[in-house]
Amino acid sequence: MKKDIITLGIESSCDETSVALVKNGRKILSNVIDTQIPIHEKYGGVVPEIASRNHIEAISRVTKKALLEANITFNDIDVIAPTYGPGLVGALLVGLSYAKALSFAINKPLVGVNHIQGHIAANYITYKELEPPFICVMTSGGNTQIIYVKDYTEFEVLGKTRDDAIGEAFDKVARVVGLGYPGGPKVDKLASEGKPEIKLPKTHFDNLDFSFSGIKTAVINLNHNNPNINKADLCASFQKTVTEILIENVEKAINQTKINTIALAGGVSANSYIRKEFKKLEEKNIKIYMPDLKLCTDNAGMIASAGYYNYISGKRDNLELNAIPNLKL
Ligand code: KG4
Repeated sequence: MKKDIITLGIESSCDETSVALVKNGRKILSNVIDTQIPIHEKYGGVVPEIASRNHIEAISRVTKKALLEANITFNDIDVIAPTYGPGLVGALLVGLSYAKALSFAINKPLVGVNHIQGHIAANYITYKELEPPFICVMTSGGNTQIIYVKDYTEFEVLGKTRDDAIGEAFDKVARVVGLGYPGGPKVDKLASEGKPEIKLPKTHFDNLDFSFSGIKTAVINLNHNNPNINKADLCASFQKTVTEILIENVEKAINQTKINTIALAGGVSANSYIRKEFKKLEEKNIKIYMPDLKLCTDNAGMIASAGYYNYISGKRDNLELNAIPNLKL
């Protein structure tokens, strides 16, 4: 019988310290997430230096908890898979240095993971049957991309944002209408009480690129010039328009690649309206996958899954692996 492969995933690219144990890339044994959201809330966004310090304070504790929950000892681990980019350099270095020290101490292979590849892999945990090829709509606080996932470790970026990431736009809209940080979930909630009837601009390109700065500025100006504007209507209209922008580009990607399997990924794919509208595409014979809500935002379970696929494809790293803040797929 083939031996099970246990991967220890480590995620510290932004404001979540997370450690997970995953069996054969698909089964979560534990996925401990220590979020710093309450710490950064009062600053209205993530403060990088504070994030790094809190990762240092949390990493050993979170690792011990993950091992305990999975009922695993260091000896049972086959692969150590940390995120090494993209992300905040100081934050990345904490998880990566911990992973390197652990790999050296227990003599287990080190396999670095691209954070975006991790978000894509969140789908493999939710859907045991999902296999490449498919198109991934990657929407988070730092990224907005349409990715052709050709194989587990082979990707082609078909389109990306030319300015703000979609999550940044959600967070900015939340801030200007007075909802606070992190904005995405708060806009999602308020939008459910509003009517999406305010017309907002869309920027189109010949290729599959995105731009969200125009719509973001339009919301800021409308809010500034009309103090009595209904905030719920404004959030609902913003959410509807950005969803239309995503779906228009996805339809272009389907035409271009002839692949009609779509997987969502990243923090913004937790948005209830986006999920509902993408689900409707199934009426057009398009298969839609979306990670469980807990796996949409940053977590080490998805990193361990991607690490497993990197490992079985033969990827190995050594102690010289460095954090790369702008790492590309
Ligand atoms: O994937 P993620 O946890 O971190 C990055 O890798 O960037 O994504 C965080 C982003 C934030 O911008 C947050 O506001 C957004 O995801 N987000 C949402 C929702 N939940 C989180 N945006 C819209 N609706 C949501 N329900």
